[in-house]
Amino acid sequence: MTSSHTGAGALVVVPTYNESENLPLILGRLFAAAPAIDVLVVDDGSPDGTGELAESMAATDPRIHVMHRTGKLGLGSAYVMGFGWGLERGYDVVVEMDADGSHPPEKLPEMIALVSASGPAAPSLAIGSRWVPGGSVVNWPVSRQILSRGGNLYARLALGLQLKDVTAGFRAYTRQALEAMDLTGIDSKGYCFQVDMTLRVLDGGGTVVEVPIEFRERELGESKMSQAIVVEAMLRVTKWGVQRRVQTLLGHRPGPRWVVED
Ligand code: GDD
Ligand code: MN
Repeated sequence: MTSSHTGAGALVVVPTYNESENLPLILGRLFAAAPAIDVLVVDDGSPDGTGELAESMAATDPRIHVMHRTGKLGLGSAYVMGFGWGLERGYDVVVEMDADGSHPPEKLPEMIALVSASGPAAPSLAIGSRWVPGGSVVNWPVSRQILSRGGNLYARLALGLQLKDVTAGFRAYTRQALEAMDLTGIDSKGYCFQVDMTLRVLDGGGTVVEVPIEFRERELGESKMSQAIVVEAMLRVTKWGVQRRVQTLLGHRPGPRWVVED
């Protein structure tokens, strides 16, 4: 762990596992788009030396911070630890962003501005969304597009959500939204971590907005996603869907939002 920043502003948490080719590129783009932002790299002992590379970048740039974990413990827990680090240090907005260049950091100022707005209508979570009008995906095989669209459709139906991209990993949260949830209770590892977080924001009374982005598949390095992650997501979304319906039937939870509101 390096350094000791305290203060307001936005923190971008970037989880890494073998991203040494990508990390300098993405941080360069990020700081070009948002020079006043801070970054926390959460590295899981990458064998390719990403952790050491992040450390050497942090040595010359006070905006960069690094957390090292002992082994590959999963995307979800990397974010949970990064969120906790950011809340302890007083950041107003905490961002999730992949290291592989898939998420355009150029969109971050807009996303951060949305959740930083004052007033009761301001959203608590801005999702960089592939599947709203204006959003897109570049260089994904059809199989991966079908998986993402199908997964999102299933999550929408099972959970009664209106969001189009609930598995997206490019997000800006307000500190209040993160403080309103029990971060320590989260044990989702893969895509379902994103769904889990969305439900927690909504259950905490927060609102969610989707901002269209162009998602570009990585050109360097390898994806870490696996079949186990897809299975985890399907099982958990099904379980949450059943739980929520039972709670609604027992009168412990209002029905899906589109029934209650409007
Ligand atoms: N620290 C840490 N530990 N980082 C990890 C781990 C881990 O176990 N697994 C993956 N990462 C990092 C990668 O190094 C990368 O920066 C980021 O998490 C995303 O990993 P990818 O392997 O590139 O994921 P993806 O492109 O398949 O998935 C992305 O899109 C999904 C939706 O389609 C991510 O944004 C997911 O969160 C998202 O659900
Ligand atoms: Mn990726």
